[in-house]
Amino acid sequence: MNHPDLTVNLGRLKLANPVMTASGTFGYGEEYSGIIDINRLGALVVKGISLRPRPGNPPPRIVETAAGMLNAIGLQNVGLTAFIRDKLPYLRNLVPALVVNILGETEDEYVEIAAALSDQEGVDAIELNISCPNVAAGGLVFGADPVATARLTARVRAVTKKTLLVKLTPNVTDITVMAKAAADAGADGLTVINTLLGLAVDLTTRRPRLANITGGLSGPAIKPVALRMVWQVARAVDVPVIGVGGISTWQDAVEFFIAGATAIQIGTANFFNPTATVDVLEGITAYLTDSEVTKLTDLIGTLRLT
Ligand SMILES: Cc1cc2nc3c(=O)[nH]c(=O)nc-3n(C[C@H](O)[C@H](O)[C@H](O)COP(=O)(O)O)c2cc1C
Repeated sequence: MNHPDLTVNLGRLKLANPVMTASGTFGYGEEYSGIIDINRLGALVVKGISLRPRPGNPPPRIVETAAGMLNAIGLQNVGLTAFIRDKLPYLRNLVPALVVNILGETEDEYVEIAAALSDQEGVDAIELNISCPNVAAGGLVFGADPVATARLTARVRAVTKKTLLVKLTPNVTDITVMAKAAADAGADGLTVINTLLGLAVDLTTRRPRLANITGGLSGPAIKPVALRMVWQVARAVDVPVIGVGGISTWQDAVEFFIAGATAIQIGTANFFNPTATVDVLEGITAYLTDSEVTKLTDLIGTLRLT
């Protein structure tokens, strides 16, 4: 059989293959350039960018847990100006599509960042991290409120023609409500999921093991939750869903496609297997070839329920 067709579309954005990096786990790309051939990936998602540089939280910021990790990095990043000046020139010359993950403490901040990135050649998509406290609304996370999710998505949509992805938080009762709010407000695709809020305790000191007290749980431990949410969201909206959460092998990725994901992101697995992205890509290709599936899109959403 010929090489299977791995191309997928996220709105108007066409990816050569569905393997993406997850924001915050792959730096600004360059960090992995000596380890893997980055140009084989479908898309790179860079660390979340804020209007001004952020130093992040004090240490300890990472704790290992059973089959996963808790992080409270606190969205440390170089800020918009330094990103455009120092990071974008390298990134725009790479083959994979470039997705810039952004965050703000107010709607205006998100809008300002999105508008600035819209003028930048080489930025293919903007991914809104809506797992951030909405300062004007008393600190409730944007993504935990469908009205705030819709307003923010619509306001960003109004200032950019770039592909717009909205990254949903799993820390809600019904993720499909947030998914519909974002899709109806103009998102081209939804990234499902961000980290799950967790806590780890030091038995000797009886203190939280993270200085921030709580942190975001990621890694293989969260895969069943992510898979369930991808399945729910894919049935609830018409826009493509990008699956993320605990993917470390090609088998994990194939489960996400069957559940309804159009593309997948690999996060924590990069830390324990720096070649995870290309390993998964090769595994998907071999699986499709062996199963005589000529197009990846034929696999998406084929979960059998009867
Ligand atoms: C150290 C670390 C930093 C992260 N930073 C961001 C970020 O800046 N923006 C964002 O939207 N998600 C961020 N995430 C969440 C991941 O992109 C991903 O949604 C989550 O970790 C689940 O995927 P995984 O289990 O494959 O890691 C971060 C995750 C980790 C572990």
